[in-house]
Amino acid sequence: MIMLSKFEYSKNFLRKDDLLICPICKERLILNDHSLVCKNKHTYDISKKGITTLVSHNHIKESKIYNYELFLNRRNFIQKLYYKDLYEKIIHIINHHFDNKINIVDLGCGEGAHTMNILELLKQKYMYYGFDYSRIAIDMASTYNCDNRFYFVADVNNVPIKDNSTHLIIDILSPYNQLEIKRLLKKSGLFIKVAPGKNYLKEMRAATNISTYDKDIEVEQNLNKNFKIVKKEHILKTYPITSDDFKLLLKMSPMYNDQVINIPDTITIDLMIYIMNGEEL
Ligand SMILES: C[S@@+](CC[C@H](N)C(=O)[O-])C[C@H]1O[C@@H](n2cnc3c(N)ncnc32)[C@H](O)[C@@H]1O
Ligand SMILES: [Zn+2]
Repeated sequence: MIMLSKFEYSKNFLRKDDLLICPICKERLILNDHSLVCKNKHTYDISKKGITTLVSHNHIKESKIYNYELFLNRRNFIQKLYYKDLYEKIIHIINHHFDNKINIVDLGCGEGAHTMNILELLKQKYMYYGFDYSRIAIDMASTYNCDNRFYFVADVNNVPIKDNSTHLIIDILSPYNQLEIKRLLKKSGLFIKVAPGKNYLKEMRAATNISTYDKDIEVEQNLNKNFKIVKKEHILKTYPITSDDFKLLLKMSPMYNDQVINIPDTITIDLMIYIMNGEEL
């Protein structure tokens, strides 16, 4: 089997793409050798690693908290499959709703492992666009680049994807911009938002002396303000956890330190899946 470079994979994807638009003037982006270019000549280079930055200004501030180590630990922890039930629920929702090929946009995809676990189980053909504000995350995510998956640097507040073009928008624990979602989503499409429930990782919060998660009601209120939630699913399970996995978990979370009082032997995954549909946004 011939192994393509990340750059070649990106080019193969971009030859097929018909959704990407210029983040400055909103005209279509066309692949031209090593760049994406719009008709107003705004030019976005594709790096040797196959990465392109589609933002309207030059300076993206890289977060100090979301650093390489955090994303690496995040990927390692996610691969342990504590989130298996979440993937299965989401797959069920997608398979139930769509028959044909779909365009998927992943808001704040991070290093990509969560959505990758979902895509691997998907029965539909798809074109997947994952983006994140963090170059470090996209650098890591681009190991998943292929003919029908592409990762790029962009802002959820200015998504470089054309209007009314997206069948499925996924947001796992990331920020969203309601106007952008309404602009992108097809009438027949779905917006799936995953947010923490009250007891999400409660053992880790207790072990590091942080009070339980309390933004769950606010998240739901905000969604209700902006959209009509057509369905809600709840994932709630407590798993045994080894101390090695617990250490990975500590290091993958933006708000935790390593001042652990005692290492727990269970961990609770408590997540809400909110489903909105394009017809009733
Ligand atoms: C908790 S992580 C979730 C990442 C991934 N969805 C996952 O579940 O592993 C939140 C992500 O949102 C990204 N993010 C924050 N603000 C953003 C913005 N304005 N535009 C794009 N990504 C953003 C961060 O860089 C980070 O990767
Ligand atoms: Zn342009």
